[in-house]
Amino acid sequence: MEKYFPQNYFKGRHVHLGVTGSIAAYKALELLRGFYKAGLRVTVALTEAASRFVTPLSFKALGAEIVYTNMFPRGVADEFDLGCDVLGHLTPGAQADAMVILPASATTIARIATGLADEILAGQALAFPKPIVLAPAMNPRMWANPATRENIATLRRRGHIIVDPDDGLVACNETGTGKLSDLRLAYLATLASLSPQDFKGKKLALTMGPTREAWDPVRFWSNHSTGLMGACIAVAAHLRGAEVHAVCGPGCPWLPYGIKRYDVKAAREMNEAMQRLWPDMDYGVFSAAVADFYPLPFGDEKFKKGNAGDEISVRFGTNPDILAGLGKQKKDGQKIVGFAAESSNLEENVRKKLKSKSADLLVGNLINRTASGFASPLNEVFVHDKSGNEEHWETQPKAEVAWRILDWLTRL
Ligand code: C5P
Repeated sequence: MEKYFPQNYFKGRHVHLGVTGSIAAYKALELLRGFYKAGLRVTVALTEAASRFVTPLSFKALGAEIVYTNMFPRGVADEFDLGCDVLGHLTPGAQADAMVILPASATTIARIATGLADEILAGQALAFPKPIVLAPAMNPRMWANPATRENIATLRRRGHIIVDPDDGLVACNETGTGKLSDLRLAYLATLASLSPQDFKGKKLALTMGPTREAWDPVRFWSNHSTGLMGACIAVAAHLRGAEVHAVCGPGCPWLPYGIKRYDVKAAREMNEAMQRLWPDMDYGVFSAAVADFYPLPFGDEKFKKGNAGDEISVRFGTNPDILAGLGKQKKDGQKIVGFAAESSNLEENVRKKLKSKSADLLVGNLINRTASGFASPLNEVFVHDKSGNEEHWETQPKAEVAWRILDWLTRL
């Protein structure tokens, strides 16, 4: 999951992770690990009940700087406890950049909603000056109880971010809503609270991944794109506050539910989806490796190899150039980012393409590098904008490239 997030932007930021008494508490260890890998500093607080499910030692061993377990010092013997920090209920609020509670039990939710600071985590939450991310997990009847419903509504009204639980089979073998949601959502919501909101109020549509052009019911024509570069841009724009619409070719990676996803196969479908979205957008990012050609369909029946002899010929038609088409329809204020995968003359081709496609920014890479481009988590690019500004970016994670492209877009 870390491959979506640029270390440079989050490195050294401090997240305070609260854990409450639910069987889902073990998942907080994985969340901590994800933060740690993204370069974040993490402190943890366990309620008394949480400590019955998972131990402070586990969090400490996985990289937590401090693990708070008690409002009152219990003496030096307990090395993971507050020790002599008698102001431990106030410290995260003064020092941490973001706070997340996962899992959030009905009791902790009630404590925060009613301002009851009778244990360490609730005290820290009440003294936290910014919105908190809460990922509830509980029995479906507890989640459905009007008391919980009202407490959740209160927290939302006060600006806290609730990562709604999922439907399904919960640990007590009942089925309903209450299961801890996909961990990636709380992870992303936490990173969003650490991200600049410089795309708030903006709409961004992007194409990503390969296209797949069917020849017969079994065979198709496609390319090696995985959609990772586009996914990194989609997630970055989402974290930075944009309304993101992602038109995804086959096999594209997971995207958070907050991103509107349109799954398509052939270039012509991708074009139609993008044509529908574009009039309403502020930004268009064209990271898909669109097949320029499609095989003229053989028909509805599978082509039998026995009919081929030693060789066969397939005829191709040309697909619409989605970017060039929408570039022509660009209205004042709309901005376009194009990509170029080249086998030679990178700079010259990128400069030409920016003009021919009416793009505002063009990002090019050479396809014959091993640690760059298709199917690699890394990219080495040449960037050129319509004012003639140019930069070479050395090999770096696609997530870094994505965040830097968005930085550049805000300056255009
Ligand atoms: O001309 P070329 O394929 O190199 O241009 C690459 C750029 O144009 C990429 O941004 C790609 O997403 C976009 N493109 C497109 N539709 C096509 C071909 C390319 O949108 N049919």
